[in-house]
Amino acid sequence: MTAPKQNSTHAASQTGAVAAASGVVAVAGPASAASAASAASAASAAAQAQASAPASASAASAGVAAGAPAAGAVERPLTHFRTLPLSIKVNGEIVGPTDVPAGLMMIDYLHEYLHLTGSRLGCGQGICHACVVIVDKPDGTSEEVRTCITGANFFHGKTIRTIEGHAKRNEAGEVIGMSPIQQKFLEHFSFQCGYCTPGFVNAATVLIERLQRQPVARDKVEATITEALNDHICRCTGYVRYYEAVKEVVLTTPGLVKEAA
Ligand code: FES
Ligand code: FES
Repeated sequence: MTAPKQNSTHAASQTGAVAAASGVVAVAGPASAASAASAASAASAAAQAQASAPASASAASAGVAAGAPAAGAVERPLTHFRTLPLSIKVNGEIVGPTDVPAGLMMIDYLHEYLHLTGSRLGCGQGICHACVVIVDKPDGTSEEVRTCITGANFFHGKTIRTIEGHAKRNEAGEVIGMSPIQQKFLEHFSFQCGYCTPGFVNAATVLIERLQRQPVARDKVEATITEALNDHICRCTGYVRYYEAVKEVVLTTPGLVKEAA
């Protein structure tokens, strides 16, 4: 899998068009959210400067101001943004090495560069956990990481799984079966709109994998599930069916539960 950098230029080119319409030269070349935001900022500044011009300015002057870029309006540094290296394994496939803008969040990298749109941007502030991916660590453990507040470069050298990596697929890439957690979520009809579901699938999967290494005492099952899912926010279901589905997986999968010592 390669990272098509040019896919990130869509928003920037739109912003560039807005900037051009405001009399600011749109900068050609690789674009990023940072450069797009800066271009929009420059366009806004130009518009404000234009709005504050004396009312007595001649029509000709106004025409020049509206139709041609003023000297100095083009901020050449906008063409330069700091990049950082990124080379990762996503759902079993090597991605990179490539460079990404220093301020690019992982959720945007997944969506805009890799077209993996299953991870959901909810709050964007690290609260709802809809955006989590699974990081597989060298010691065999796994953990959730929120991609809305974590830069793409943080994942350099790491192995991750997104929601697209859970289902079983054939050689053609077609889904031929759900993971146990996905299947139970379907059977329990655990979700309504489904926006939070990728995060819950990842959280529950991390829990199951932890219990495979460290089985939980039977009398601690419910508390363990509560603790594992507690950070995830769902605004539809009331959580009960998520909990019931995960509990069924925990209780029916051999080796996850041990009798109290
Ligand atoms: S979108 Fe990342 S925590 Fe809410
Ligand atoms: S099912 Fe809608 S937010 Fe959880």
